[in-house]
Amino acid sequence: MSKTIQKNLNYKKYFVNSNLCYFKLNSSKSEKSFADEIHFSLNQKSKFISPKFFYDHKGSELFEQICNLPEYYPTRIEIGILKKLKNELANYLNDSFRLVELGSGSSIKTRIILDMLSQIQDHVEYFPIDISEILTTSSKLLQEDFSKLHTTGIIDTYESGLEFLKNYDNGNNLIIFLGSSFGNFSPDEGKEFLKKVNLTMKNNDLFLIGLDLVKNKIILENAYNDSQGITARFNLNVLSRINDELSADFNLDNFSHYSLYNESEQRIEMYLKSLLNQSIIIPKANLSLTLEKNELIHTEYSYKYTLSQIRELMFQTGFSIENIWLDENKQFALTLISKNI
Ligand code: AVJ
Repeated sequence: MSKTIQKNLNYKKYFVNSNLCYFKLNSSKSEKSFADEIHFSLNQKSKFISPKFFYDHKGSELFEQICNLPEYYPTRIEIGILKKLKNELANYLNDSFRLVELGSGSSIKTRIILDMLSQIQDHVEYFPIDISEILTTSSKLLQEDFSKLHTTGIIDTYESGLEFLKNYDNGNNLIIFLGSSFGNFSPDEGKEFLKKVNLTMKNNDLFLIGLDLVKNKIILENAYNDSQGITARFNLNVLSRINDELSADFNLDNFSHYSLYNESEQRIEMYLKSLLNQSIIIPKANLSLTLEKNELIHTEYSYKYTLSQIRELMFQTGFSIENIWLDENKQFALTLISKNI
């Protein structure tokens, strides 16, 4: 038996209809890791919760609301750049390309690229990779509007999903990683991630990555501390998720949202602050924890880049830059890269 087939035995294939199927990693594996990761990360002296856990159903809904906030500029600006670059991007696609999206969207951003591909190709394939099952819902929505679309979802981490795709067939991939999601990685993690992506890419594959740029501290802090308190609800929701899924007893009223821009580290830092001395029991993570008044649980970093750092990063991870597109105020960058061969 070949390595490919054995590897894909870890996945189960589900058919939704003739244009939509998805592969899912065996579920016991992913459930175990949430409890394990929470056990580990809240058992530290400096406590943290990985931002990947924000996105349960409610969290994904709140994130959609964040994207529409007046203070949260990245989504609006990135959409503006995508609308401008889509015709130019088509010039890089001299053969048939499928769209591979890290993080699944039915969002306007995905639609802009799918629109462009539908104009230049009869057959359009879409491979969203997402750790969450939300992928199935968002894919159905896209299916309604793109009749030519063939969707194959992969429910797994980005790295494993790309590895899966590498062994899948020989099609050309246009990988997109939008919304500055890359900003959640530390610079070192980001480098490792890009090197891994590079190894899963074929010579003709392209990768379009959206990165938020360093800018005025006030603009940045307002984007992560909006006046309607949606970001606060988004941040606090991860505690509800731990309550729901791991039977914990967090009282959300005993925490507040706290975020700041750390200029020297070039990152937004987000925390949940304990408003009093308290103890919490998380049965399914086999953990009881005590928090002191004002103790912080770290929940997110969102790194911002300069253009020269982007060039350096791509150079160091084995990529050639095909193009960098910016908005007129240089707030956000979309960089198209290929394997440096
Ligand atoms: C989805 C990681 C890009 O960092 O801007 C938005 C998440 N957190 N507001 C970001 C987020 C608070 C977002 N990313």
